[in-house]
Amino acid sequence: MPKMSFFERDGSVREVEAPLGLSVLEIAHRHGVDLEGACEGSLACATCHVVVDPAWAEKLQPPTEDEEDMLDLAFALEKTSRLGCQIVMTEALDGLVVRLPRTG
Ligand code: FES
Repeated sequence: MPKMSFFERDGSVREVEAPLGLSVLEIAHRHGVDLEGACEGSLACATCHVVVDPAWAEKLQPPTEDEEDMLDLAFALEKTSRLGCQIVMTEALDGLVVRLPRTG
């Protein structure tokens, strides 16, 4: 089973099982990671914002224009920011590392 890690806002890191085909948002929810995802993956919010570890950023599919537009609304945007609901787990992403963004 692939795994991925979340750096939480308090600096702790959680490594969790990441089933293929699930989004980072769905994986976070399965494990009680505090990532909101208000629109449940329909690209209508930016509350699933995660910052992808730079080493992993280029391994992801580039964001669609719709994702870019939504990301523009996200708070504390960083260079490797992505929407968690748009990152879908594949074998190639086994070991993926993301960080929850600052909230204020
Ligand atoms: Fe709303 Fe990802 S959950 S855009």
